[in-house]
This record gives sequence, structure tokens and C-alpha cells, in this order.
Amino acid sequence: MSLAVPADAAVSAEASRRRTFAIISHPDAGKTTLTEKFLLYAGAVAEAGAVKARAGRRRATSDWMALEQQRGISITSTVLQFTYRDHVVNLLDTPGHRDFSEDTYRVLAAADAAIMVLDVAKGVEAQTLKLFEVCRARSLPVLTFLNKYDRPGRDPLELLDEIEAQIGLRPTPATWPVGIPGDFRGVLDRRDGGFVRYRRTAHGATAALEERLDAERAVVEEGNAWQQAREEAALLDEVGATLDVTSFLAGKTSPLFVGSALTNFGVRHLLDAVVDLVPPPEARVGTDGSTRPLDAPFSGFVFKIQANMDPAHRDHVAFVRVCSGRFDRGMTLVHAPSGRPFSTKYAASVFGSERDTIDVAYPGDVVGLVNASSLQIGDTLYDAEPVAFPPIATFAPELFASARPRDTGRHKQFHRGLTQLEREGVVQVLSDPDGDPVPVLAAVGAMQFEVFAHRLAHEFGAEADLSSVPYKVARRTDRETTDHLRQVRGTRVLARADGTLLALFESPYYLQRLEQDHPDWRLDPIVGAGAVP
Ligand code: G4P
Repeated sequence: MSLAVPADAAVSAEASRRRTFAIISHPDAGKTTLTEKFLLYAGAVAEAGAVKARAGRRRATSDWMALEQQRGISITSTVLQFTYRDHVVNLLDTPGHRDFSEDTYRVLAAADAAIMVLDVAKGVEAQTLKLFEVCRARSLPVLTFLNKYDRPGRDPLELLDEIEAQIGLRPTPATWPVGIPGDFRGVLDRRDGGFVRYRRTAHGATAALEERLDAERAVVEEGNAWQQAREEAALLDEVGATLDVTSFLAGKTSPLFVGSALTNFGVRHLLDAVVDLVPPPEARVGTDGSTRPLDAPFSGFVFKIQANMDPAHRDHVAFVRVCSGRFDRGMTLVHAPSGRPFSTKYAASVFGSERDTIDVAYPGDVVGLVNASSLQIGDTLYDAEPVAFPPIATFAPELFASARPRDTGRHKQFHRGLTQLEREGVVQVLSDPDGDPVPVLAAVGAMQFEVFAHRLAHEFGAEADLSSVPYKVARRTDRETTDHLRQVRGTRVLARADGTLLALFESPYYLQRLEQDHPDWRLDPIVGAGAVP
């Protein structure tokens, strides 16, 4: 009986079976398909097709967002939990649109690893690059999946070079393709030198048929394709592109798998790697430098807030990543920033707008707290011994727009919406310390402005006029430098809600000149992946 197991031992055991990761990719590289195939291989769905069907239902039942429908994209992030090989896998979905948003970055703050999905015909694309910078800033371990091998594509050796050159991450193939893109027979498993031959099933709806052959039989049956794979694998051995767990965990090398999510080829290998290689949750360090052990009382932090997901209830869901202890629905926690009690009567696991009540959760899991309007991104919640985790970095904005209510009679609604949407992290809101009342919105992706305007109109009843302002780059500054910058054309200093002063520049070259001419001015570059500490 589980009652015989001391509670903290049970927490450690549960934590060690958790694997919490996100998939990062360029739109269309196959993230949704792969997610669906993971569910298929985990036995969570009997046939592929469920994820898209659920996504369809979500669109049908929620106007969050009509915008999603118009643009045919997914803006909302979701969390998916399933079990595989007696492990609990938490897949944090990142928004799949072409634009970057701060949401994606924040989701990565809650993940212990990422899978980078690349289309074999395209290689590294802009979005992957940007997301990867965030992984690197956090030293997040990354697995790579070279997808769509069933179609004509590029030479895989060339792609390895490209990955290393463009993102500075050294791929270490665990499997290597037998057959060329478009004529994909199976993989050479570099871990034992054997051949795994795949056969399709109709529409990829059920697991691919896999047959394991030893090298002798592979020579006879696959001839040249096998020979070529062997030669390429020998080359990889020679250059030392071989799986190394330590450098993977340090975010320096990336175990690589080839496959086709559509036909299910290679999906099992990748899912096995999630269990075998992705690290389980680790104890997190609080702002005071002390470590909160996994088996300490409950603690967690809010990494995402989503309001009005269900139009029938104007609600507010805060997604909390559990860092330590056991979560029991109904427990009263402490909200670290205010010291106030927080009731968790309404806890849910959320997938799109579908909810299941969640009763128990462990480190690595994500809990959606409903009616959590007092929580903000980055807030820590804890039980018993106090802890506060460091804030989630906000990102250096790259796009700016001034915002005015279209109808001045709806000034109040406009400001209510502005405050709420800023708290949810939809956009950053900058104000003029010299008193210009027109706020400036700041974002890392243009989509954030669209979401802002749409939600302001539909949820708060205030249409907004946004006009872009021509700044391109931001630097952190101080009062003294602000006084100097008042005399400089093409710049403006604005304040974030927390008081940080941001100097905005119309031209990066101009900024460069100012930095050269005035080395004593404080114009701090944004560190890491654009994080403003
Ligand atoms: P995303 O979430 O990363 O945006 O990509 P998604 O899985 O939606 O896949 C984008 C398109 O690529 C889909 O085709 C999907 O079927 C296809 N795809 C995904 N994996 C593979 C693969 O391994 N091989 C091949 N050949 N195609 C793949 P679509 O036509 O846009 O959509 P659908 O009508 O098939 O759903």
C-alpha cells in the first residue's frame, strides 16, 4: 500500500519518473504530427488523428480565439500529460505560429528539455534559431528530430554541419538513415550497429512495423543503402559525433534522430530518448540562493496566464510548474509576493479548452489554477517553508506601437484591458516618465499586438488604434543617461511597469555610435536570450 511509503520518498520517486519538455520547431516542420504520434506510441490514443480532432473541437467551442480561426494558427499553449514506459511525460506545447511571442519563451522556462524538430528539406529556419537561443541561454538540453525523411530532402551530413554552424550545437546522431530522403528504409542504430527496418501502416494511423536485422542480414537485404549508411556512420565515429550524456545535459551536444512523423518511422526511438535522456526535474534554487529540495513541501511558479479561454466563464487560468513537494487539490498555499493565502480548490489540467480536474501533482507537472486573477507571471506559490523563485526573464522588445482608445468615451475600459493584458504578459506596456499619457506597447513578435487589439475589443469593449513607432532596439539605462538622451534625436526613454528605464533607438548603427562616443553612458545590452534582468 502506498500509505506505507513516507510522503517525501514518494515525492522523490514520482519526480524521478517525470520528463517535462517542449517541442520547438518552425511552423509546418511537423510538431503537431509528432505530438500526435507520441500519444499513439504511448497508447494514450488508439489511432492517430485525435490531437487534430481535439484542436478542431477547441476551435468549435471557444472564441479564444476567433483570431486563431481567421489566421488558421494556434496561439494558445497547451500541456499534455501521458505515461510511457512507466514514466510520466509532460509535453508543454508552444504556440505554433510564424511569429515569435513571449509566451513561447516562458513555456521554455518551465521545461527541463526541448525537442527541436527540423524538416529535412529545409534545415534550420529562422524561428528555430530564435527559439534555440532561449534554450542556449538556459543551457536547456535539446534533442533533435530530423523529420519528413519519407520525402525528398537534403543530404543529412550537410544538415549536421548546418546545425552546428548556425546554432552552435553539435548534433550527435543516435540513429542514421538507411536510404535517401524519399526512399527511407529504416535506421542504423549507432548504439548497437543494428538495422531497424520500417514498414508503413495505412495513413500512419497505427505504429509503424519495425523489424530488427543484424548487420549481416542488412548487407544482404539492403545492399548499397546499408553500405552507404555504414560508411557515413563510420565517418561520424571518426569525427567523434557520438552520443555524450554530459555534454547533452550541458546543452552543448544534441542527440539526433531521423524519421518521419507522418509514417511513424523513428518515433519510438525518439520517445525512448525522452525517457532515457531528458533529465528528471531537479531541485530549483530560490532568489536567496538556497536550494528547494524536490521532497520539500510544495512549491511552484506561474509561467503562463491565460484569461477568457472559456467564453462561458470569464475565467483566468494560471499555469504553475511544480518544483517541489506534492500538490493536492484544495490545499491552501502562500502566494510569495503578497504573503497572502491562495486556495487551490479549482485546479485543472488544461488541454486547449478541455479541462480535467487535477487532484495530485508532483515536481515536473503543470497545474492549471482556475480563477487565479491575483497571480502574475513568475509568482511563486509555496506550502509551509517560504521560498521565492527568480522571476522569469522578460524579453528585450523589438517592436513598438503607441496605443490609443478609438472611442475616448471608452477610456476606462481601455485602461482596464491594458492593465489586465499587461499582467498576463500579452504585451509589455511602457510609459513616458515625462508624462506623455499615450502608452507604448512593446513586443518581440507582431502577433502580440494583434492579440492585444483583438482581446481589448472583444473582452473589454474598447477598440484600440495602434500605430507603430519606429524604434528597433532597446537598452537598459538610468536617470543620468536619460537626461543626456533627451538631447539626442532618434531616441526615447520609456519606463516599464517595474520602473526599469528602457532607451529605445531608431537605428542600431546610431546606437553603436553613441556607445562609442559616450562610453560612460549607461546603455546596457540585453543579456542572454534578450532577457532584461
Ligand atoms: P506543425 O505543427 O509543426 O506546424 O506541423 P504539422 O504537424 O501540422 O505538419 C505540417 C504538415 O506537414 C502537415 O501536412 C503534415 O501532415 C506534414 N507532415 C508532418 N510530418 C511529416 C512527415 O514526416 N512526412 C511528410 N511527408 N509530411 C509530414 P498538411 O498537408 O499541411 O496537413 P494535413 O492535411 O496532412 O493535416
